[in-house]
Amino acid sequence: MGDINNNSAFDYENLFHNNILPHGKIGITEDFLHRFTDLIFKHLVKANDRKEKVIDFTHPHKLEADFNENFQIEKDPLSLEKLMVDCQRVMDLSVKTAHPRMFNQLFSGCDLVSMVAAWVTAGCNSSMYTHEMAPAFNLIENLTLQKMGKMCGWDEECDGLFNPGGSISNLYAVQTALHYHFPQTKDNGLFGMPRLVMFISAHSHYSMSRAAAILGMGTESLKKVPVDSQGKFIPEKLEEMVLEAKQKGEVPFFVCCTAGTTVLGAYDPIEPTLEICKKYNMWCHIDAAWGGACLLSEKHKGLMKGVERADSVTWNPHKLMGALIQCSAFLVKRKGILASCNKMNASYLFQKDKMYDIKYDTGDKTIQCGRNIDAFKCWLMWRAKGDSGIEAQIDQLWHCAALLYSECKRRDAFEMVMENPECTNVCFWYVPPSLQHLDRKSPEFMEKINAVAPKIKERMMLKGSMMIGYQPLDDKPNFFRMVFANQATKDEDVYFLCDEIERLGQDL
Ligand SMILES: Cc1ncc(COP(=O)(O)O)c(C=O)c1O
Repeated sequence: MGDINNNSAFDYENLFHNNILPHGKIGITEDFLHRFTDLIFKHLVKANDRKEKVIDFTHPHKLEADFNENFQIEKDPLSLEKLMVDCQRVMDLSVKTAHPRMFNQLFSGCDLVSMVAAWVTAGCNSSMYTHEMAPAFNLIENLTLQKMGKMCGWDEECDGLFNPGGSISNLYAVQTALHYHFPQTKDNGLFGMPRLVMFISAHSHYSMSRAAAILGMGTESLKKVPVDSQGKFIPEKLEEMVLEAKQKGEVPFFVCCTAGTTVLGAYDPIEPTLEICKKYNMWCHIDAAWGGACLLSEKHKGLMKGVERADSVTWNPHKLMGALIQCSAFLVKRKGILASCNKMNASYLFQKDKMYDIKYDTGDKTIQCGRNIDAFKCWLMWRAKGDSGIEAQIDQLWHCAALLYSECKRRDAFEMVMENPECTNVCFWYVPPSLQHLDRKSPEFMEKINAVAPKIKERMMLKGSMMIGYQPLDDKPNFFRMVFANQATKDEDVYFLCDEIERLGQDL
């Protein structure tokens, strides 16, 4: 037997699925689960080791050929040993998202308490629709949503749901606003409606456009408000655009402020937007999927001043708070509106004559039927750390961003895309020595600098030393978007990141 089971009392090469529960023996089942825990433990120890690679990259066409040959689902059962070998291979090929130098996405790290919570929910394998199927988890979801609502400055009349991602939470925002303003659309759709329009930042997350498309209003119903040099939308422009739309006979009903934009990390101005929403009777949604966790920090919560007057909020604990993915909350100030919007009264699931108070069944508030238990991953982690623990974690992420910003300013080859970032996003160009002499506005510079970030990214991926995202934005050529979301990241990683980019890019 290979490495995987070197100290096992069982011969897994000759054991199969029916040797473990529900058909097999308890002793083998216990050992089998311990083996898997051990595999995951070793993966996480590696992932937390800075000397290990963040990724062992293989080109997909090569992997595909290998998978086609070796990973097919066969007619006959495979041994438990084979399953362990397969899982080890899959983990080896996976990005070590817990690695302190995994900066590629707006989630990073592996909070072990949150992971254990995910195991608990997997072990319980239930669905959130009814109290009878997920009694503890439903009550815990409600407690967690109430806590988050309170952080927004709302009272217990608020409502919400945990959803599979911020995109779905944003979809709920548009759908709920539509229902609030035009409840007849639940039955009649958009037939006979005037042209409805919504306003978002030009730097909003693309899920807003998708929500407009899904809900039948079309992406053309979204008007993109221009942003200033800090990436925040300009409220005066918003008001001008609302008036313009009204003049054309369109009906504005929804505005989304992003609290922490995806690329620049900008916080749109909430308070002036609320005034405009009030004046023109529009729903004010805050997409705080990324930046919402600032509410847990005394130092940074001012970034979302005014949130207490908003109608709804998207907030992803799987991003800055570090809960395991996926964990996204949609919070809405008005109790009852989600039920009113989505209720279908399926009589096989939401019987009215149950023995308990059916207000505890959450399923008919959702756009799903079965729903994963996501709140638990946030709740257990938050209980473990308390508000103060999460606050310290958030402040540390902001500290890393400030350190990187000052390091970029100090080094000649790093040039900022935006000064004084507000969230943990730090966006910059690395300008190699060969391009230093070029005029920054010249077409030659634009073309050459555009190729630098992709090339450095390629080199870092092949080396496995770290992962960072890059993209163009508006008229700006490709730049690095550095984001801090991983509680394992320390000052030494910030210095490493700058040194490594210099090492990988100086000959370009
Ligand atoms: C501002 C913002 N909103 C929404 C989303 C979508 O979140 P999810 O990836 O959980 O669907 C993102 C994702 O990065 C985001 O940055």
